Amino acid sequence: LSSIRVDVSGVEPGTQLTVKWLGKPVFIRRRTEAEVTAAEEVDLALLPDPIARNANIAGDAPAIDPNRALLPPGAEEGTSDWLVMMGVCTHLGCVPLGDAGDFGGWFCPCHGSHYDTSGRIRKGPAPTNLPVPVAEFVDATTIKLG
Ligand code: FES
Repeated sequence: LSSIRVDVSGVEPGTQLTVKWLGKPVFIRRRTEAEVTAAEEVDLALLPDPIARNANIAGDAPAIDPNRALLPPGAEEGTSDWLVMMGVCTHLGCVPLGDAGDFGGWFCPCHGSHYDTSGRIRKGPAPTNLPVPVAEFVDATTIKLG
């Protein structure tokens, strides 16, 4: 089975769930307002990887936060507190730690890559943002991966 459904009803703001999908960890985080604001305020010119890396939208879409977040049903266009992405460092594949690093997002302890609260690489050897897999809300509390 290549797609799975994940119950996210217990995921509080500021916490994340890690699930395994196709043998790899996927992070499902419900961000705090401060995390979303921090992600939105970043100047795109500062991003080492300016591409959204989101399998749900155009391959050349820019890495603004709304292009990486996942909209829940009924939400207005724009950004969302939900962030779903592969938990695999784009350097050499370690699993980054949440709530860590210089940008308040994720930190990969293997060689020191820092990702921000949108999962975008900001510092360290990782070449690209953490990829957003094919994902959608199928109802208010369920996310389908794949
Ligand atoms: Fe993450 Fe090298 S594998 S920094």
